Order: sequence, then structure tokens, then C-alpha cells
Amino acid sequence: MGLPLMLAPSLLSADFSRLAEEVKEIEAAGADWLHVDVMDGRFVPNITLGPLVVDAIRKHTTLPLDVHLMIVEPEKYVEAFAKAGADCISVHAEIGDSIPETIKLIKRLGKKAGVVINPLSPISIIDSLLEDVDFILLMTVNPGFGGQTFISDVLSKIKELRSLLDARGMHDKPIEVDGGINSHTAPLAFEAGANILVAGNAVFGAEDRQAAMKAIRATCE
Ligand code: DX5
Ligand code: ZN
Repeated sequence: MGLPLMLAPSLLSADFSRLAEEVKEIEAAGADWLHVDVMDGRFVPNITLGPLVVDAIRKHTTLPLDVHLMIVEPEKYVEAFAKAGADCISVHAEIGDSIPETIKLIKRLGKKAGVVINPLSPISIIDSLLEDVDFILLMTVNPGFGGQTFISDVLSKIKELRSLLDARGMHDKPIEVDGGINSHTAPLAFEAGANILVAGNAVFGAEDRQAAMKAIRATCE
């Protein structure tokens, strides 16, 4: 048996003028985690939100907040996100040499640490971090915007990573995927070995979010 499927709707596609209602609705509709995309206009060509917004939504949901940092110098901000109520914090390996220390810092703050790689980055750049992280996030679009098309080349990378984790006895280490996940792509990613599926547009963009999540889960069963 593989790891249990978990759905993490991405707040990026929510209605930002009604965030409290949006997070309450998604929790009641059966989300497992709430994915929060933080962009700085430097690591990615878009700007979203900071610790202030994480703190604001924290008061309206008990869902684990999965904070995806698409920012340069993440080490400067992880403490603020931890204090704001993040439960999981992930950082991009492409940032470079500071990442191993940043992962240790996230764990010292008592939070789950994830490492992320972009679609074109090879698994080899996170090889030495696999033991230290609580989960690995493989981007299935180039980060920066919601509503993009799933890059199916990443499927072989999901398989490669799952085999590597299995070979090293890390059978329980979750693989998260993010970008272009919907009821067509979710089963492909799940089958390949990912078990935490982020979905923005396919869930928050749907009229009936509960039905959208059920449809994604059903295609993976
Ligand atoms: C992209 C973000 C994603 C995004 C996913 O940079 O990291 O979390 O919100 O959105 P969809 O599911 O619409 O591709
Ligand atoms: Zn994300």
C-alpha cells in the first residue's frame, strides 16, 4: 500500500476579498491541508502575500497551513511565517547553499520542512537533503501563477524520486506535487508516487469545491 492521498487546495485561486469565508468553506468541504503560495517578485515574477495574511487566515481554520516559499533569502522570513501559524514550510533548492541550514531552522522552529524543485531541476540537487526534510515538493508547472498546464515530463521525476526514497528505506516520506493538478492529471501523479496533491484552479475555481475535491479523489482510487 502506498501513502494516503491528501488534497491541499491552493489559496492562490481563492477570492482574496473573502479569505476567511474561503478557508472555512474549503475546510468544511474536506481539504487535508491548505497550500499558501508566497511569492516575492524576485524568485518568481509575481508577488502574493506575507506572514500578515498567514496570521489572518490562521484564526479561521484548523487545517494545517502548507506555506510554499517562492522567495529569495527564505532564511530571513521562516521564523515570521512559523510565528504566523504555518505548519509546513517549504523552500526551493534552486536558491542554493543556504537551503540545508534553512531546513534545519524550520525544524528547530518545530515545523515540518519541505524542499521544492522546479520542473527543470534534477533530483540530484536535493539528493543530500532527502533524509532531513519531512516531504519533497515537485513543481509540475513553472512557479509564479495558478491555472497553468501540468508538465507531464515531471511524471518520470516523481517515479525516480519514489524509487530513490524506497531504495533508501524512506517509504513513508511524502511527495507533494504542485501545478496543473485536476481530475485528469491527479491520478497520473498519484500513480507515479506523489501523495500530496496541491490544486488551485481545479478546486477554488470550481463552483462546487466539495464536488471538485471528491472528483479528484475518485480518479485516484
Ligand atoms: C504556482 C503555485 C501553485 C499554484 C497551483 O506557482 O505554487 O501552488 O497555486 O495552481 P493550479 O492548481 O491552478 O495550477
Ligand atoms: Zn505552491
